[in-house]
Amino acid sequence: MILSNNTILITGGSSGLGLELAKHFLQLNNKVIICSRSNKKLEEAKKLLPEVEIFQCDISAQEECEKLANWVEKNHPTCNVLINNAAIVHNTNFVTDAYMIDKSVAEIKTNLIAPITLSKLFIPILAQNTNPYIINVTSGLAYIPRTAYPIYNATKAGLHSFTQVLRNQLESSTITVTEVLFPVVDTPFHKGNAPKIAIGAEEAVNELFIGLKKGKPEIRIGKVEMLYKLSRFFPSFAYKIINQL
Ligand SMILES: NC(=O)c1ccc[n+]([C@@H]2O[C@H](COP(=O)([O-])OP(=O)(O)OC[C@H]3O[C@@H](n4cnc5c(N)ncnc54)[C@H](OP(=O)(O)O)[C@@H]3O)[C@@H](O)[C@H]2O)c1
Repeated sequence: MILSNNTILITGGSSGLGLELAKHFLQLNNKVIICSRSNKKLEEAKKLLPEVEIFQCDISAQEECEKLANWVEKNHPTCNVLINNAAIVHNTNFVTDAYMIDKSVAEIKTNLIAPITLSKLFIPILAQNTNPYIINVTSGLAYIPRTAYPIYNATKAGLHSFTQVLRNQLESSTITVTEVLFPVVDTPFHKGNAPKIAIGAEEAVNELFIGLKKGKPEIRIGKVEMLYKLSRFFPSFAYKIINQL
């Protein structure tokens, strides 16, 4: 990937890895647009990174995805990179949690249906520009589930599978489809309780940029590479390790 002179939309760019990505891409002379639900978080991101463009929306609603795509097409027609980064997680017990259905629906809409919807809406916008990319953010948990996250793992496994299909079906187009699989990263995602093995967002994004430069279709960050291999050859052992963290 050519890492400069792009116009990049990062969903969930107001926090954690999305914000770190925005910072890195701005430093490399790109135009960066971020979206998220909270205006307050977006304003804080704008204070930190004054060059960033912000757009408030909730991507778990299809009509808000459509508003976002229309706004980008009108105001940033040079948009050539979509980064499906926003996601939520519920650390809970599926059996005893009384709000499990609502939580499941919210997770599936945000983490899986939104990237699918945005990919469909953005393909024609991206395709008008040079070096178009769709970058989907998943997790090592796409390979092996962590039992604390009953639905999150499934959304990431689903997005992993969809990304493989999208890459294949876009093969004859100009659009490159890349997946980045992060390990545990210390971000607000963990609400202050990140496991000890968590790496920093800056370290994770630095490694992602190395993978992007090399043009890897699946970029496994940090220990995700090892988890990938373990999940293929020693799946029970991998399951045990992931659930002992
Ligand atoms: N941190 C980790 O350990 C880890 C590990 C593997 C993979 N990942 C993946 O990395 C990505 C980024 O995670 P992170 O750690 O940076 O999390 P984070 O700090 O919690 O950031 C999530 C971002 O998504 C936004 N968001 C959530 N729901 C949204 C919605 N419905 N509409 C629009 N924006 C929404 C949030 O802003 P608002 O709250 O304002 O909407 C926030 O900007 C996710 O895909 C996550 O699954 C993270």
